[in-house]
Amino acid sequence: MELQGKHIVLGVTGGVAAYKAAALLRLLTGAGAGVQVVMTEAATRFVTPVTFQALSGRPVFVDQWDPRMANNMAHIDLSREADAILVAPASANFLARVAQGLADDLLTTLVLARECPLLVAPAMNRQMWENPATRRNMALLQEDGVSCLGPASGVQACGEQGEGRMLEPEAILESLAAFFTPKCLAGRRVLMTAGPTFEAIDPVRGITNLSSGRMGYAIARAAARAGARVTLVSGPVSLALPLGVERIPVRSALEMHGEVLARAGEADVFIGVAAVADYRVEQVAAQKLKKEAGGPPEIRLVPNPDILAEVAALPRPPFCVGFAAESENLEEYAQRKRQRKGIPLLVGNLIQDGFGGEDNRVILFDDRGSHPLPAASKDLLARQLIAHVAQLLEKD
Ligand code: C5P
Repeated sequence: MELQGKHIVLGVTGGVAAYKAAALLRLLTGAGAGVQVVMTEAATRFVTPVTFQALSGRPVFVDQWDPRMANNMAHIDLSREADAILVAPASANFLARVAQGLADDLLTTLVLARECPLLVAPAMNRQMWENPATRRNMALLQEDGVSCLGPASGVQACGEQGEGRMLEPEAILESLAAFFTPKCLAGRRVLMTAGPTFEAIDPVRGITNLSSGRMGYAIARAAARAGARVTLVSGPVSLALPLGVERIPVRSALEMHGEVLARAGEADVFIGVAAVADYRVEQVAAQKLKKEAGGPPEIRLVPNPDILAEVAALPRPPFCVGFAAESENLEEYAQRKRQRKGIPLLVGNLIQDGFGGEDNRVILFDDRGSHPLPAASKDLLARQLIAHVAQLLEKD
C-alpha cells in the first residue's frame, strides 16, 4: 500500500467537518501510515484532542508553546519526519493564513516550516468558498504547489446546497494514496474489462461465470492512481467504482464486445480481466420458460466472440494483457493461451488461489517465459502488474 510506513501530519482546523477527520485518521492508520495530529484552537471547539489522541496513539499538539516540546521547536520537530502534511478540514481562514505565509499558531508555523508536500481538503459554506477572497487565496496556494482535494458539492451543515463540503474520508485517503503513486502511466489510456458476463436464457434465468470483479477493479484503481485515463467495461458486480475511473456497465458478452471494440482503437493498453462466458443462448426466450411445457428445455448455445483476441488482432492494437484462471496445468495452458490470442502478456492464476477472496497468487507469462509473483493482496498484485505493464510500454 502506498501509505504503508508513511509519516503524515494530519492538520485539523475549525469547521463542522472536523468530526470526519476522526474517521479519516482511522483510515490513515488502517492503511499503515503513522499519523501525528495537530489541531488549531478553533478545531478543539468541535472535537476534543482526546479523540484524536486515542485514535492515533500519539499526543495531539495545538499550542505553539506546548511545554512537552523540550526545545520549544514543535514546528520543526513535527514536520521534520513528515512525508506529507494533510489538512482536513481546511477552513477558509486557515487557507487565507497559509496563502499569506502567516505563522500565528502551531499548524500554520508547521506548514510554513515544511519541506514536504502540503495537501488541503477545504470545507466551508458555499458562499465562503465562492467569495473572491477565497478564490484568490486558492489560486495563490495552487501557484505555490499546494494540492487541493475537493471540495465536494451537496447539502451543507448550514442547510444550504452547493460546493464547499469536505470530500468524504475515503475519497481523501484515495487521493493521498494516488499522490504517493509514481505516475508511470501518465497520459496513457487504459481500456479494461472486469467482472462476469450474464447470458440470458429467458427474462429471469441465465448463464454466468463466478467472478467477484475484485481483481479487475483493483487493477483499474492502480492504473488510475498511476496517472492513466481508465475506462472499465464492467459486467454485473457489486463493487464501488474506483475514483477517477469511467465505468461502462454491460451484462452480456456481446454488449461487452461492442463497448470494447468501439473504444479499442484509442487505447494504449487493453487489459481483459473479465470472465467472459464462452457461449450464449442462441434463442433467448421472450417469456419465462414454464415447467409445465413438458420435460427439461433444450438450450442451444453458440460461441461468443473472443474480445481479447479480436482487440489483439486489430491493425494497430493496444498493448494487450490477458488473464487465465485455470484449475490445473497452469503453466502449459497459460502459455498456449497467450500465443493463441496473440498477446504479449498474460496473467495466470489457479482458480483455488484467487476466487472471491482478497488475495491471489499469480504468474506472469510473456515471450521470455514465466515469472511467478509472491502471493499477495489483489491490491498489491494490481500495482505490481501496472508497474510491469508501464515498463513494457516504455520498451515498446
Ligand atoms: O479463453 P479464456 O476465456 O480462458 O481467456 C481468458 C482471457 O481472455 C481473459 O483475459 C478474458 O477476459 C479474455 N476473454 C475475452 N473474450 C472471451 C473470452 C475470454 O476477452 N470471449
